[in-house]
Amino acid sequence: MARKERVTHKQDPSAHKTREKWATRIGVVLAMAANAIGIGNFLRFPVQCAQNGGGAFMIPYFIAFILIGIPLMWIEWGIGRFGGKYGHGTTPGMFHYLWNHPFAKYLGAIGIFLPFGILIYYNYIVSWTLAYSAFSLTGQYLAVPGHEQMVDFLAAFQGRAQNEYFNSHATALIFLFITIAILTWILSRGIVKGIEAVATWGVPLTFIIGVVLVWRVATLGTPDPAYPDRSILNGLGFMWNPNFEALKDTKVWLAATGQIFFTLSVGFGCIQTYASYLSEKDDVVVSGLATVATNEFSEVLIGGFIAIPVTVAYFGLAQTQVIAQSGAFDLGFCALPLIFQKLPGGQLFGALWFFLLFIAGLLSSIALAQPMMAFLQDEFTLSRQKAALMVGGLCLFLVIPIVFFLKHGFLDEMDFWLGTFGVVLFALVEIILFIWIFKPKNAWKEIEMGADMRIPKFFYPVMQYVTPIYLGILLVAWFAQDGLKIIFMKGVQPGDYPYIWFARFLMTTILLTLIFLVFLAWQKKHRIQHKVPK
Ligand code: ALA
Repeated sequence: MARKERVTHKQDPSAHKTREKWATRIGVVLAMAANAIGIGNFLRFPVQCAQNGGGAFMIPYFIAFILIGIPLMWIEWGIGRFGGKYGHGTTPGMFHYLWNHPFAKYLGAIGIFLPFGILIYYNYIVSWTLAYSAFSLTGQYLAVPGHEQMVDFLAAFQGRAQNEYFNSHATALIFLFITIAILTWILSRGIVKGIEAVATWGVPLTFIIGVVLVWRVATLGTPDPAYPDRSILNGLGFMWNPNFEALKDTKVWLAATGQIFFTLSVGFGCIQTYASYLSEKDDVVVSGLATVATNEFSEVLIGGFIAIPVTVAYFGLAQTQVIAQSGAFDLGFCALPLIFQKLPGGQLFGALWFFLLFIAGLLSSIALAQPMMAFLQDEFTLSRQKAALMVGGLCLFLVIPIVFFLKHGFLDEMDFWLGTFGVVLFALVEIILFIWIFKPKNAWKEIEMGADMRIPKFFYPVMQYVTPIYLGILLVAWFAQDGLKIIFMKGVQPGDYPYIWFARFLMTTILLTLIFLVFLAWQKKHRIQHKVPK
């Protein structure tokens, strides 16, 4: 049995005094919104919506938003600010103070593992958007004749194939390197001069570009008079007309809840880190709501009005259905470039579209990277610059198998365990710790400290009972529907088995390393801070 640590807050050498704090309230909201608004808003959302019942998808989506999204947002802000008071920007330290048990900090290691693991592959996707923005400006895909060839273009760019378009990974690696270098530079500038400054211009910029693109799409009408049914109006109908039959399918409910997790970045571990830079006087309740509202505006009203409607206007309903079923990458990187070839001013609009994805993705990457940064800075007293170089270097090193084994399902395997299953599991863990172990009245107090308004009463029982039960059901359903198939590699080509095992090995190694680092950090702290009771 591990020795019980006596946690007395006074014993902590108040590292929080030296920790940075956000400079302005609007800066906090924009940074949090920048964390949430990402590629998920503009590509994942429209595809999920089109695949899962169109307008009817919004019913489970908004139910999950109210019962999971908003509660988790407040809970994570609350946990984060609470941990920040004791000098901890990541969940090992936060959980340590929520639950006076030696195991708590190791559970918290998951809150660094998830964002860092997701960051490794998310960065790579972000780099594709930068590359395609450049390809749009230079006209690199302008002469690609059709959808099949555009699929070949993407495959060759990603190094999954070699053909007349690309014959190595070189181009993809250059853009990946540029993306990670920009990320490292922003991280090295810190909370106020780096993250807050970039979010302050980045979020408005995504809105401006988004609105320009929505206007472009809305004014397209019927681009080809020979096909009167291929119109923006029909596109909007395809995207938004509800198919209530779809609601009988569990898959649709799981997809909607998964989208809420992904788009709000709840369960990831990064909101807690951002919130650890808040002060006790800062408001959490209204700012949390402002963040989710900003994200939903960009997701539903911008993301929902670009990619799918324009695809219907150019390709018609039947073809769009096929494209939507093939997933977000096919829509974003194959169908849309073909449209930009035909659209008046398409080169510029193409560059803007991919640049929008790049900025939104980069801002989310920063949030995914910050927990690892905070862990190195808070627990190992590394300087910001050293921590940033280490995070950037690790990203560059660990992404290598993802780049080279992409065609073997490496990225998908990581995405399921981290971005789909892991985040729900972690959300359940943190809710049990914060609401049940730390006790509801303490949790509400933490969230409402310094707040402009109290949590509406409706949410108390929701956070206490409904959200955890909902998450528990979700985990079981997911596990039954996808988890077992994925564990036993159903549908995977036998030739890909070693790669999938390698992905699992890599994830396990990262997690175990983090657990060991938490152990080391606490050994160090133990000597300094925690007296063992006689
Ligand atoms: N929330 C981020 C996105 O939507 C991860 O892409």
